[in-house]
Amino acid sequence: MKILVATEKPFAKAAVEGIASIVKESGHTLALLEKYTSAEQLYDAVKDVDALIVRSDKVTKEVIDAAPNLKIVVRAGAGYDNLDLAACTQKGIVAMNTPGQNSNAVAELAIGMMIYVSRNCFNPGTGSELKGKSVGIHAYGNVGRLVAGLAKGFGMKVLAFDPFVDKSVIINDNITPVDSIEELYEKSDFLSLHIPATPQTKNSVGLSLLEKLPKGGCLVNTARKEVVNEAELIAALEKRPDIKYVTDVPTENHAAISEKFGNRVFATPKKMGAETAEANINAGLAAAKQIAKFFETGDKTFQVNK
Ligand SMILES: NC(=O)c1ccc[n+]([C@@H]2O[C@H](COP(=O)([O-])OP(=O)(O)OC[C@H]3O[C@@H](n4cnc5c(N)ncnc54)[C@H](O)[C@@H]3O)[C@@H](O)[C@H]2O)c1
Repeated sequence: MKILVATEKPFAKAAVEGIASIVKESGHTLALLEKYTSAEQLYDAVKDVDALIVRSDKVTKEVIDAAPNLKIVVRAGAGYDNLDLAACTQKGIVAMNTPGQNSNAVAELAIGMMIYVSRNCFNPGTGSELKGKSVGIHAYGNVGRLVAGLAKGFGMKVLAFDPFVDKSVIINDNITPVDSIEELYEKSDFLSLHIPATPQTKNSVGLSLLEKLPKGGCLVNTARKEVVNEAELIAALEKRPDIKYVTDVPTENHAAISEKFGNRVFATPKKMGAETAEANINAGLAAAKQIAKFFETGDKTFQVNK
């Protein structure tokens, strides 16, 4: 089988080497398309491949249509909103992600952003400490759990809300579950956002939640830009001159927002949550292993288009 790794933003070299050796050991052939600059290059590269590994690359219906032999596509990462799942399903293509493989990198960045904002974005002046502050974990998945654990290490009070996770799981981790999303925002000096971008969550964080943050509250978004309603974010920052927004996934008009609100908003120049060598290697190798296992045994454990 021919397995293509197509990455606009390439994996770390060690990850590509690891993928290459898994592909070779399992008797398949590797093709590499890195730093491509047009969708056409991707259409051309997929025309004879059986499997595809991508990162944040968009796998659209056009890509699927250009790949008549494609049987499996794996998003090396957690969020899979860059895959057209309906198009995959329609063609009988299995779509997977690699859950948990880059979570630690994202969790560390979320904590780093909290420290950055607490220390005046590293400008001179008196800052504050994380110890004793409360942090609300909005979605207790792989990243949320790790942020919770790190935050406890900093002596923070950790609360969590996730309607799809049994409260006993949260309690067993010595984290305080809250009953509603409103309560979470009301009680969190830092609100760490970890919901996936789905039709239900898109634009779901807006004025009515943000204005509930306590005085000096800060929203930390390492999830997806689409889950925050940009117009309402602006309205909240206007209405509440004490609140802050830091993000790894800037909204469409971040430059204008940043100009307007100065040090109260910060975005990483490029999404970097999963941008560590370790996360690259974990996610890239997991993707290659999942494909090898799928071809060998038909295993679909991490399928997301069921
Ligand atoms: N910044 C980055 O580079 C980066 C890297 C990895 C992941 N992410 C983003 O972070 C998100 C979370 O990653 P993860 O690995 O923790 O995913 P995950 O699938 O392990 O966890 C997601 C959690 O969200 C919960 N959830 C779903 N809908 C919800 C809702 N409406 N309200 C509350 N909770 C809800 C689920 O129950 C689950 O526990 C991903 O979907 C992705 O968009 C960003």
